[in-house]
Amino acid sequence: MDSIIVFASGTGTNAKAIIEHFNENKKAKVSLIVCNNPEAGVLEIAKKEHIPFLIITKKTFQEVLLLEQLHDYQPSLIVLAGFLWKIPEHFVHEFKGKIINIHPALLPSHGGKGMYGAKVHDAVINAKDRQSGITIHEVNERYDEGAIILQARCAVKEGDTADQLARKIHELEHFYYPRVIEQLLASK
Ligand code: GRF
Repeated sequence: MDSIIVFASGTGTNAKAIIEHFNENKKAKVSLIVCNNPEAGVLEIAKKEHIPFLIITKKTFQEVLLLEQLHDYQPSLIVLAGFLWKIPEHFVHEFKGKIINIHPALLPSHGGKGMYGAKVHDAVINAKDRQSGITIHEVNERYDEGAIILQARCAVKEGDTADQLARKIHELEHFYYPRVIEQLLASK
């Protein structure tokens, strides 16, 4: 069975969708959740699902010990789901081709450092884009610039608020992210 490590530091709705997907089909399992915020909602999900979690700091994130700890879980894939810190270069090299991220807009638009959550949706609305969506992509040394694996779209309606757009995006994320992970694992 493939092992997935999820990095998440927010509410964790994507982490939950991924966990539930693989609770059902058993082709893989989330074996560890890595989080940089001890208050994050995703930790409640980890506890409820009996999934081990690791809380990291800016310092431990840079350490070789972390790589060793992650290797203990023999991950086929490292999945970022609402994790905001930039992945260090040595980390990207250590797990080359195995780290993916989801961004709540159609990259290369509205990405980069500081572009997360409502800021992304506000930028889409201010730019008067008629479409937004999600981008699932490989992670490289630069924010939101790795090769695109999948994009899915939704309409941005006149008068949509950032909250309304966020809801549409979350629906796309919860549907596509687990399925893309499953396909990636099958093709490895
Ligand atoms: C998602 O919108 C994802 O695109 C972005 O961070 C958000 C995390 O949401 N990278 P959640 O914590 O999974 O609800």
